[in-house]
Amino acid sequence: MTILVNRIKAWKNVIKLSKYVKFSDSMSEFYRNLVVLGLKDNFLSFLQQPHTFSEIKEEFNVIDDKFLSLLLETLLSDNTIEKTSTGFLLNKTLDIEVIPPEGFDKSLCQFSENMANAVFDRLSNKFFDVSSGSNLFTLDDALAQKVYGYMRHTTISYAPDFIKYPGKFLDLGCGSGTSTADFWARVMKKHNFKPINDFKLIGVDINEDFMNIASNEFYYSVKKYLELSEDAYIDLKPYHPEFKTGTTTQIPYPDNYFDYIYTANVLHWSKLKLSLDEIFRCLKTGGIYFGSNLLFPRANSYLNIMLHTIDGVQGFFTKEEFIKQAKQVGFSKLKFCTPLKIFKFRK
Ligand SMILES: C[S@@+](CC[C@H](N)C(=O)[O-])C[C@H]1O[C@@H](n2cnc3c(N)ncnc32)[C@H](O)[C@@H]1O
Repeated sequence: MTILVNRIKAWKNVIKLSKYVKFSDSMSEFYRNLVVLGLKDNFLSFLQQPHTFSEIKEEFNVIDDKFLSLLLETLLSDNTIEKTSTGFLLNKTLDIEVIPPEGFDKSLCQFSENMANAVFDRLSNKFFDVSSGSNLFTLDDALAQKVYGYMRHTTISYAPDFIKYPGKFLDLGCGSGTSTADFWARVMKKHNFKPINDFKLIGVDINEDFMNIASNEFYYSVKKYLELSEDAYIDLKPYHPEFKTGTTTQIPYPDNYFDYIYTANVLHWSKLKLSLDEIFRCLKTGGIYFGSNLLFPRANSYLNIMLHTIDGVQGFFTKEEFIKQAKQVGFSKLKFCTPLKIFKFRK
């Protein structure tokens, strides 16, 4: 019965989220146009005449056939190119207008453009340095408050156990700590700011700058969710979270350590199987791994191409792939809810 109630709550939140569908459409269009523009004068210009896979490979010194196939499939999927009897051929006149989605400021547009431009270099296995020229904090600030905030709320309404029974909780890929502050505020409120045995909140992210912002600004992040004086916050010092640099494939904590691990919109930035192995390692037996991740076919295929420009990134995957890998790693009781793909697994 509780599961059903939680499921209904989660769906109600998804309906509220529908106003962001327009936002997501404009983001998809934005990524597509950036990638196509980045390929216009090289790759796509070559395809003004039909060319076979082997000819394309040779022309652009392609090392990774899989990446080339993925790129061609993506360009075929929206008819940017077509497959003729003599090879792949550019299908459209490319007069493209790139319109930044709402909330994307100059630095974020620049970051997206750099990543899209890196697609061409990726053909010859030159990878994009994710830290170069980026301002990921802007992305986090723009998205974490709005879209991710709704997604998080939805996930928590589906898997609220940790608020009632807090333990060691890892917010993995926590960005600048917005989600961590939200979790902290919820637990503190629920327990009336009284001592909570065993409660320890930890944030881990690959980006060191984020970890500095997260710990230095945590009080201000909390204030977005809670009325709390600075003195009262300082009194709660034993419960202040810890932030550490780490990755989904190298979590800087011992085996069987966490009661809960949470990831939201993070798994596609890494390698799925390796991440699940590592998450499983750090969870206690009986512990819960939950969160949300955009999955194919909903996930944007051009953003997926952009993700592939970063070394060691697998990109988006399907629900079936997720289930298969999670089972192989050893997770059980796999549950999914809503089109956003909120999930809850148990070790
Ligand atoms: C889209 S943001 C999501 C932030 C946060 N989880 C939320 O939902 O508000 C993705 C985050 O994953 C982090 N990230 C990317 N690759 C990672 C990896 N391999 N391990 C850990 N964090 C990673 C990024 O630095 C960024 O903070």
